[in-house]
Amino acid sequence: MSVGSLKPMGTDARKGTAALSWNGKTVELPVLHGTEDEVAIDIEKLRSQTGMITLDPGFGNTGSCQSAITFIDGEKGILRYRGYPIEELAEKSTFLEVAWLLIHGELPKRDELTKFREEVTHHTMLHENYRQFFDALPKDAHPMAVCAAAVGALSTFYQQPETEAVLHSEIIRLIAKMPTIAAYSYKHSIGQPLVYPNNRLDYSSNFLRMMFATPAEEYVVDPVLAGALDLLLILHADHEQNCSTSTVRLVGSSHANLFASIAAGIAALWGPLHGGANQQVIEMLEDIERQEGSADRFVAKAKDKNDTARLMGFGHRVYKSYDPRAAILKKSCHAVIQRTGVESRLLDIAMKLEEIALRDEYFVSRKLYPNVDFYSGIIYKALGIPANMFTVLFAIGRLPGWIAQWLEMRRDPQFRIGRPRQVYTGAAKRSYVAMERR
Ligand code: CMC
Repeated sequence: MSVGSLKPMGTDARKGTAALSWNGKTVELPVLHGTEDEVAIDIEKLRSQTGMITLDPGFGNTGSCQSAITFIDGEKGILRYRGYPIEELAEKSTFLEVAWLLIHGELPKRDELTKFREEVTHHTMLHENYRQFFDALPKDAHPMAVCAAAVGALSTFYQQPETEAVLHSEIIRLIAKMPTIAAYSYKHSIGQPLVYPNNRLDYSSNFLRMMFATPAEEYVVDPVLAGALDLLLILHADHEQNCSTSTVRLVGSSHANLFASIAAGIAALWGPLHGGANQQVIEMLEDIERQEGSADRFVAKAKDKNDTARLMGFGHRVYKSYDPRAAILKKSCHAVIQRTGVESRLLDIAMKLEEIALRDEYFVSRKLYPNVDFYSGIIYKALGIPANMFTVLFAIGRLPGWIAQWLEMRRDPQFRIGRPRQVYTGAAKRSYVAMERR
């Protein structure tokens, strides 16, 4: 079976040119139009025609690829996977169906989904040698570091040459084993026995059981909570060319294997400005809770240019209006908290912070709204997931997106190894200075 689909925009997407004049010379650069009429200047021939390169720190204006996977309109708060609005997928789909959609490009037919579920279910166990692998790591290791290492190590257990069939089983293994790796990293950190997967359970229920069951007691998964987790995974499943996805593409562009590329993506996601923000949000909310009435004070700190504090879970490189994922999660927060009966003090503080920020000129003028991480941590916490595991949950969710993007990159007819250029600003040529003359 072949995996993935690729619908490059091709030459049809080229409409018109943009003129660039410099030093009395003008070059015509092709202009490309995406499906949703995003417009891009194709600078592929810029250096060969002019000797110049472009400079775009943070890549805010640079398209690194053409992609048919995810569409975001940050100004309008739109997110679609393969054309399907995130709101519809959140309401009607499941995480494994969304994973198939992202990887294959279409919603699965009934038999395709059944087979996919079965394949994933039957590959959830880890090689027994992984026990020693986990044992070798310190107890207080951050689970993101453990997951990155464990996913990288999959390439030592499965190292056949890359064929379509091998790639297919690598994809199944990754999706199947990621929750097991995540749960094992948690069990290891708290010194509890590892709980084997249970093939009778669905994807999200199985993960919750591996996290919270012990051999000593029966653990029954609450379907409402498993549903909330499945929703979170759907909302995180892809987000086009963000930091970790670009990392997966760049690493994979050297023809590094899928496991190694995904391990690099996990490392990129760990950072507090990316996936790590969900842990920071909950720490910020708990901090505010400890210092009664400090929400206003915290907002003032976040606005102060002499203070490095930021309102975590606020702002986004692409969304300049409300993040649609945050809107869905805000509703889900209430449902989960009602179900678990846990104290909603953190949710109250989050809503208060949001209320203050949405009225504040600083946040309004910079178009800073809650992002996906602002409410996800509250749900994770209500599910009993410890704060240092939040980003791991993000990684489980993002996995199908990384895989789909990796496949698309590798099958792109315009494929080239990723290799940005630079504007050199260091010392001009100089002669070596002997040690005694320095
Ligand atoms: N609190 C206070 N000020 C902020 C914040 C914030 N959370 N975010 C941005 N700003 C200010 C920033 O100081 C700058 O102000 P000025 O123009 O006066 O210098 C302006 O808004 C633009 O910020 P930026 O850093 O240039 O924006 P960016 O697009 O480079 O960064 C971001 C985007 C998400 C890294 C940033 O908004 C941020 O650090 N947010 C907090 C961390 C966070 O929640 N990250 C999760 C992102 S969503 C999940 C994911 O996809 O990873």
